Order: sequence, then structure tokens, then C-alpha cells
Amino acid sequence: MAERSAPVGVMDSGVGGLSVLAEIQRLLPNESLLYVADSGHVPYGEKSPDYIRQRLRHIAGFFQAQGAKAMVLACNTATVAAVADLRERYADWPLVGMEPAVKPAAAATRSGVVGVLATTGTLQSARFAALLDRFASDVRVVTQPCPGLVERIEAGDLNSAQLRQLLLGYVQPLLAAGCDTLILGCTHYPFLRPLLAEMVPAGLAIIDTGAAVARQLQRLLAARELLAEGPARATEFWSSGEPGALQRVLPLLWTGTASVQCFPL
Ligand code: DGL
Repeated sequence: MAERSAPVGVMDSGVGGLSVLAEIQRLLPNESLLYVADSGHVPYGEKSPDYIRQRLRHIAGFFQAQGAKAMVLACNTATVAAVADLRERYADWPLVGMEPAVKPAAAATRSGVVGVLATTGTLQSARFAALLDRFASDVRVVTQPCPGLVERIEAGDLNSAQLRQLLLGYVQPLLAAGCDTLILGCTHYPFLRPLLAEMVPAGLAIIDTGAAVARQLQRLLAARELLAEGPARATEFWSSGEPGALQRVLPLLWTGTASVQCFPL
């Protein structure tokens, strides 16, 4: 039986999940958080679902061994590939996954055209197709895979000329198609909001799901009487890549200070 004071495990293929971690910390400041960046295997976006499922089994096992009371897949690509598998394995463990915000975007659009920036893996998945069937039958959804963006953000590049050019190349076709609502379907992309805001018309809505994930975690923990009463312990960070690399970019993407530990590959 998990205890209220047990930590919550949060994972991503790399630093993208930090955009979700920040929302969790804002909404649930009493929760102690463990963050695993699977940086030795990033990007997930071009990898096979089977490969990603194996990684997620490994990471879930790690969180279990750490006594985590819940796990958050702060990664759209990991969710489409692996959340169903994890739910089968850990039927009684609260698991929060995430998917591109198609439902709120379909409700918000006035032009009737919604753009989605996401990884190839997310856009090609059956879960994403099902999401469109369910919520987007009345709108046109234009999807854009974005290879290369994640690698730039992992390297701490949020503003270089090459990044701008790459991003513009992905955004322009969506604007040309008439989209007035843009879904950030990958947790790395919220770090590009300032850059995106310069590229799109002022009224265009940019939607991500970090805050919704935090609310879902809150609901699941509350339903099981597992919300922490605090105070939270300092967030712990692990990387399956070179810990120094995460350590270096962390100050750009995260407000607190932390030392990064080596995640057992
Ligand atoms: N941050 C991830 C997502 O939300 C995946 C990025 C990647 O590793 O390709 O999809």
C-alpha cells in the first residue's frame, strides 16, 4: 500500500518532460518528484513502438523500485507506444499518459483548421488516429512531424538561426493551410513558445497539455487518498545519457538547482 509521502515518478525521452514537471510542481507543490530523462535513447520520435515499450518497462520498473506511488509519462511518443502495455502490467498503479490536445483545439478553432506539431511516432500511431476520429470529425487537422527539433532542445538550443529556420519550415505549411489553433503535441515544444510566438499571427492559439496532465495526476491521487501533505523533498533527476549534459541544460529549462544522477541503463 503506497503512502501519501511516496514520490511520483515522471519520465520523458529527455528534457521535454520538464515542461510537464513544472506544471505538476505548480499545482501539487507538496509532492516529491523523481524525474528520469531517457537521454541515452533520445529521440523517441523516430524509434519503433516496440523499442519504446521496452524502455518504458525498464523505467517503470525503476520507479516501482523507488517506491513511487504513481508514474507520469510526460511524453506523447512514449504514451502512444507504451501506456496500454504499462496499464496491463501495473493494473493498480496510477499511470498518467498524455496525448495531443485535439479535443480542446477542435472546440477552440474558428477557422476550422487545427495544426499539430508532434513527433513522427505520435502522428503515425493508432492512438492518434483514434483521437482524431473521436474529437476532430468536424474540423480539418493538418499534422506536421518535426524531426530535428528535439535534438536542438536537448542541446539547450532554444533560439539559434538554424533552429529558427527548422521551426519556420514546420510552422509555415500549417499557417498556409489556414490553421488558427496550434497543438504542441510533444513535451519538448513548449520550450519553443517564445520563438513560435514571433512566427505566428497574434491571435493564434497555441495549446499544450502540461497543465491538464498535472490536473489528471491530482485527480488520480485524490481518488486514492494519496495526495501528499508535504513538505516535498527536493526533486531528484536521473539521466540515462551523460548526466553532465542534462546538468548543463537544466538551468535553461528548470527553475530549481539539482544534481543529476546516472540512471541504470
Ligand atoms: N518529448 C517527447 C514527446 O512528447 C518525445 C520527443 C522525442 O524523444 O522524440 O513526444
